[in-house]
Amino acid sequence: MEEKLKKIKDDTLEFIKSTKILDELEDIRVKVLGRKGLLTGVLRSLGELEPEIRGMVGKKSNEIKSIIEEALKDKKDELSKSRLGDVISQEWIDVTLDPEKSARNRTRGYLHPISQIQYQIEDIFTSMGFQILDGPETESDYYNFEALNIPKHHPARDMQDTFWTEDGNLLRTHTSAIQIRGMEKMTPPFRVIGPGRVFRYESIDASHENTFYQVEGMMIDRNISTSNLIYIMKQLLSEIFERDVKVRLRPGYFPFVEPGFELDINCLICGGTGCKVCKQTGWVELLPCGLVHPNVLRFGGIDPDEWSGFAFGLGLNRLIMMKYGINDIRHFMNGDIRFVKQF
Ligand code: PHE
Repeated sequence: MEEKLKKIKDDTLEFIKSTKILDELEDIRVKVLGRKGLLTGVLRSLGELEPEIRGMVGKKSNEIKSIIEEALKDKKDELSKSRLGDVISQEWIDVTLDPEKSARNRTRGYLHPISQIQYQIEDIFTSMGFQILDGPETESDYYNFEALNIPKHHPARDMQDTFWTEDGNLLRTHTSAIQIRGMEKMTPPFRVIGPGRVFRYESIDASHENTFYQVEGMMIDRNISTSNLIYIMKQLLSEIFERDVKVRLRPGYFPFVEPGFELDINCLICGGTGCKVCKQTGWVELLPCGLVHPNVLRFGGIDPDEWSGFAFGLGLNRLIMMKYGINDIRHFMNGDIRFVKQF
């Protein structure tokens, strides 16, 4: 028995000494000290031994157990240390590398300022409990005009010059089409925004584009009034411009709201004293809005006697132009990467 123990001890220690692989230490531990291990087997069978050698064998086995445990631990430390050494020697960093050629210097991608402001607006509104909706860029006459209280031959159609497709559809002239889609999908009360690209058949100059971006907003609940609208708009503008902005409401006509407003902000370029951008008035038209017209609610399947709401259409290009003092709307679509890189 004594010999058997000695053999277990010598073989195990020899193995531990010679291995260079961390995982093998665990294998040998299980093989010798594990539940079905060699040494554990000896300890388990003590009861079958003659009483006079039982004590000696037990004592010896326990001694060997701690010697092996000790050896395992030392070897484990040694191997882990040298592994760190290997990593350091293989994964060294060449501090003399020419930065011009290093990965650091590769060109970065940039988000277009329109995307940046859109994401920011989405964050602001989702934090106020609004949901984000999407709609198609090619729309039907129904969603873009008819259901927004602009019947065929209504003069208000001329407010927005339209690109028509040959089959009688159109490129949406405003994100208000998303209002109708929203009402069809949701049950009141609800709050939604619908960001998107819109198109107008316009000749292009410094302040007109045929393609631009809006964020539509709509909130439907009981007893919604103009003060709810103003509060949310002020909240939005102060977060975007990172300061308290002065606003004023003027009456504005849009067939889908009643009353309708133009919300102006105090010109941030001149601070309200008058400049080219605000045409010396100190105010900039930024946010058409109003209370949703009962006809529009009806088109959306909502009872105007029970529910009311506000809607607004925020022009993103104008907003960015205000925020950064950009004086030509054509920069947004001309694809010049030097423009995008600045934001
Ligand atoms: N859709 C209008 C436009 O593009 C803006 C608007 C939206 C006005 C919602 C009132 C309410 O001109």
